[in-house]
Amino acid sequence: MEMARFAKDTTIREGTGRVKVINGVPVIVLRHNGELYAYVAVCPHAYCVLFDVKAPMIHCVCHGELFKIETGEPTMGLARTPLIKLRVEAREGNVYVEVPGREVLEEIAELTKPRSGPS
Ligand code: FES
Repeated sequence: MEMARFAKDTTIREGTGRVKVINGVPVIVLRHNGELYAYVAVCPHAYCVLFDVKAPMIHCVCHGELFKIETGEPTMGLARTPLIKLRVEAREGNVYVEVPGREVLEEIAELTKPRSGPS
């Protein structure tokens, strides 16, 4: 699994997150209760980029979904699936994150397509 340097360890402070585009995919890295978490920063409800951290939740500014930082699970019933979790680790003063494959954007686009119901 390919890892990329994301930021200096000290720049991700407790209760905050940072967003960066890696391999064309927005990625959010957060620190909560001393632990680092990383997700593809795209809301599975309607494709908005996630950047607003309200620990212990990640808030989607588009329609208000709230995702648990620790698991990526949605809690408001708007998104149907959890956030895509990425591997993250701190070493030698830097934070490294798994490089997401470009296919994750296609996966999310598929999830957010309007469902065609019976007519
Ligand atoms: S796009 Fe995130 S709640 Fe709608």
